[in-house]
Amino acid sequence: MLLRFRATDFRCLKKAELELGPRFNLIHGANASGKTSLLEALAYLGRGKSFRGATTANLTRHGENEFVLFGEIEQGAGRKTLGVRNGREGLEVRVGGEAAASAAALAEALPLQVIDPEVHNLIAGGPELRRRFLDWVAFHVEHDHLQIWRRFRRALKQRNAALRSRASESTIRSWNTEFLKLAMDLDQSRRKVLDLTMEALLAHGRLLLQSELGFEYRQGWPSDSELAENLESGIERDRALGATQAGPHRADIKVGCDERQARKLVSRGQQKLLASAMILAATETAQAALQRPLLLLLDDPAAELDRDSVTRLMGAVSGLGCQVVATSLEPEALRFPEPPRVFHVEQGGVSYDAH
Ligand SMILES: Nc1ncnc2c1ncn2[C@@H]1O[C@H](COP(=O)(O)OP(=O)(O)O)[C@@H](O)[C@H]1O
Ligand SMILES: [Mg+2]
Repeated sequence: MLLRFRATDFRCLKKAELELGPRFNLIHGANASGKTSLLEALAYLGRGKSFRGATTANLTRHGENEFVLFGEIEQGAGRKTLGVRNGREGLEVRVGGEAAASAAALAEALPLQVIDPEVHNLIAGGPELRRRFLDWVAFHVEHDHLQIWRRFRRALKQRNAALRSRASESTIRSWNTEFLKLAMDLDQSRRKVLDLTMEALLAHGRLLLQSELGFEYRQGWPSDSELAENLESGIERDRALGATQAGPHRADIKVGCDERQARKLVSRGQQKLLASAMILAATETAQAALQRPLLLLLDDPAAELDRDSVTRLMGAVSGLGCQVVATSLEPEALRFPEPPRVFHVEQGGVSYDAH
């Protein structure tokens, strides 16, 4: 749980400080007042990167050289500080007062998920976001997933480099053993995690879309075949393209639904609901494994949704038991099961609403 937060020179925020409530927090303010900036800063503290893919230069307040984020989390009986600084000197991460090697230390200390107006891309966009979705759950649930994932990436890079350098078939084959082993480990880890998340996926899908859905893992090579055979039979094609075509780096999650629901899924609102159902399911699963409340950031959750859908979404969010920070133009637009702690943003500054 995040207790205190401070952002300095992040986007339009000169210096913004929050003392967050343990359950529900609402940030409201006019258009362009800094709501998204504040949420993005919170997300950055738990990820070491922007959820919108923004560059450090774009995130640093105009005229400044760096931004600094600080947070204090409650962990078990104790407290821990988190610090992030990024600018011309590069990313610096501190956890518990000590320099951390990578942003993974932030993700471990402050696991969080984001539902923002771009969330529909999880459905409408390419498979990369869906792989990342699954890998996020796996990172928190499966102890060695990050290690497996990193080693697989390295093996893929090496194999691809060999393909591009027009290495002989036997040289390329020599990379296959390592590649195959790590590919199978990654595949197993993801399948296990999708299984673990399935019940929550179905339940949240049913609740938010009021329709029966299916979620199926597509492994990244034809389902009725072995990866080893695909590597062997595809070696000519891989060499021609200079990239490995079969493997878990091509995996996807296929959402199944009936025809009526499929037609509805062309709408952005429906895509947002489905994506939100997936994110809530992931949050629930990771939270159950970690046995502590996660942070859920909702940027303008009412956007694109009709009133009933917003009510259902907020109902599902409230039922998770996580710490929530939501933004809204109007303070009354979102319903919470108990009064949220309310903050007002104005011209890059934050004030606490006492009422
Ligand atoms: N790097 C930056 N430096 C200064 N201002 C910025 C920077 N990036 C964005 N802004 C400004 O921050 C303001 C608030 O944006 P945003 O947080 O998206 O507002 P809201 O979500 O409340 O509509 C905008 O006017 C935007 O132009
Ligand atoms: Mg905004």
